[in-house]
Amino acid sequence: MFACICRAVTSDQVSTAIDSGAATVAAVARATRACTSCGMCRERIAGMLAERRPSPLEAGQAVQAA
Ligand code: FES
Repeated sequence: MFACICRAVTSDQVSTAIDSGAATVAAVARATRACTSCGMCRERIAGMLAERRPSPLEAGQAVQAA
């Protein structure tokens, strides 16, 4: 499935970029060229980044009780 139609970038390519350290839409764009034309895919890529962002526990951050 294409994440970015303009640049023919697949969801798998975006996932690979994220797994390789791309943490922002701009970083994914640099790695894949997705989101470098019309920009309609920006929300889709931002959503993929949010879905794959590690939870605070996975990221090793301390959890404070309220
Ligand atoms: S759909 Fe990604 S730049 Fe147009």
